Amino acid sequence: MATEQIKIFDTTLRDGEQAPGCSMTLREKLRIARALAELKVDIIEAGFPAASPGDFEAVKAIADENRGPTICGLARCNPEDIEKVYAAVKGADKHRIHVFVATSAIHREYKLKMAKEEIIRSAVGAISQARELCDDVEFSPEDASRTELAYLAEVVTAAIEAGATTVNIPDTVGYTVPAEFDLLFRYLKDNVAGIDDITLSVHCHDDLGMAVANSLAAVAAGARQIECTINGIGERAGNCSLEEVVMALKTRAEFFALESAIDTTRLYPTARLVAGITGMAIPRNKAIVGENAFAHEAGIHQHGMLQHHSTYEIMRPGDVGISKSKLVLGKHSGRHAFRDRVKRLGFALDEFETNRAFQEFKKLADRKKDIYDGDIEAIIMNVDSSSSGPWILKSLKVISATAEQSTATLKLIDENGDEKIETAEADGPVEAAFSVLESTTGIDLILKNFELHSATVGEDAQGEATVTVEYNGQSYRGHGTSTDIVEAACRAYLEVINRILRRRERGLEDGHLASDINRASI
Ligand code: KIV
Ligand code: ZN
Repeated sequence: MATEQIKIFDTTLRDGEQAPGCSMTLREKLRIARALAELKVDIIEAGFPAASPGDFEAVKAIADENRGPTICGLARCNPEDIEKVYAAVKGADKHRIHVFVATSAIHREYKLKMAKEEIIRSAVGAISQARELCDDVEFSPEDASRTELAYLAEVVTAAIEAGATTVNIPDTVGYTVPAEFDLLFRYLKDNVAGIDDITLSVHCHDDLGMAVANSLAAVAAGARQIECTINGIGERAGNCSLEEVVMALKTRAEFFALESAIDTTRLYPTARLVAGITGMAIPRNKAIVGENAFAHEAGIHQHGMLQHHSTYEIMRPGDVGISKSKLVLGKHSGRHAFRDRVKRLGFALDEFETNRAFQEFKKLADRKKDIYDGDIEAIIMNVDSSSSGPWILKSLKVISATAEQSTATLKLIDENGDEKIETAEADGPVEAAFSVLESTTGIDLILKNFELHSATVGEDAQGEATVTVEYNGQSYRGHGTSTDIVEAACRAYLEVINRILRRRERGLEDGHLASDINRASI
């Protein structure tokens, strides 16, 4: 059977970023966009430029880097949104404007308060305007899976006539099931004139855990673009997971006869990068990129594996970028071996970042006998922030005992080399450490979320801490890593404090991260 090409449209930076707590800084978004380009996705939906000035800047910065994939921005059906998308994406050689409007009866009545004809007029007007600016225009009838079939066909027909080059069918609320979605796509194929001249796309949410299955059903029925996110992050239960859908197509190539351009050996490093940046840890049993995805515990399975891996393994760990040997470097490893390992893990660091990461690696090697891939990844995740002041953590001493107050004594050094030592007491060691950081730096934060994960296995594994905090109504996230978990938490908190102080120095009092707050809603 001849193999056709399928496009992978990644929306980690737009729909993924809409997941609660997943807002990212410009620098983080650029880092993910570079990883997506290396992964060889066809299209990056970089954001929703009209949502906030921060979103606009991020989409523009990603487009201006122009690393290969088509850069797309989302717009509602209004002239200002469309102009903003164009202004943001036009720096990329290949750029796309994605316009959407809801079409289901529920959305028409309760959200838009618009009649069917008005919605079609609005979509046609927006698509025509976008086509005047750009040859590549995508249209999405939001909540398509709950829209009356005949009306949906009418909307899609009008969208194609108006010039849409891709029509995307979203299951916005994760409501459909594979057999039903198959029928919907076949209905559109049979009832929309010109549908074979455009790219038909699918966009699924995971509310009932069927986003990947529904996307594959759509593909089997004729969709040739899949919209998805790394690790399936996204609104509510998330979106179709890129790594799962791509590996399903590859592993079952004889069934789908479709090929994507994805370099699957970049899946695992990209998944780790997104998890590290967003603080959304990958569940151990997550398909494709979870810690246990290739672990064989039962004796009978291990026996089979020893005879031949195909007994219990349908993909090889190396296919998705999980290295065979997890034990990588030690105290005596040099810069060259370190740089090579970083590259093989899929990270592209500049000279400055490599030097900083290597210094951190050497410090860790003094404290920890075996250095695993997870350790290297944890170092890289923190290389942006670990030693950027104004405050540098010199030492932390914590005393904690059952049924007694904990005490944390902290020594910080500022850029001029001046030391500050303070002590605070609290119910627990982490609270005491946060409290002394606040009193020493004069920055009071509201802790919203605190997560701690082990970067690798073993008793001397590093703890990776992620804190989400609020300051002046803005949301910030910080990461910290150490073999001492209270220190890891302290480093994560200090990272945020330093970021706030640096912004203050630059006269940007209002904090960044989130676009969560004061953001135009979709
Ligand atoms: O889920 C959805 O309907 C969307 C559209 C904006 C494509 O994200
Ligand atoms: Zn969506």
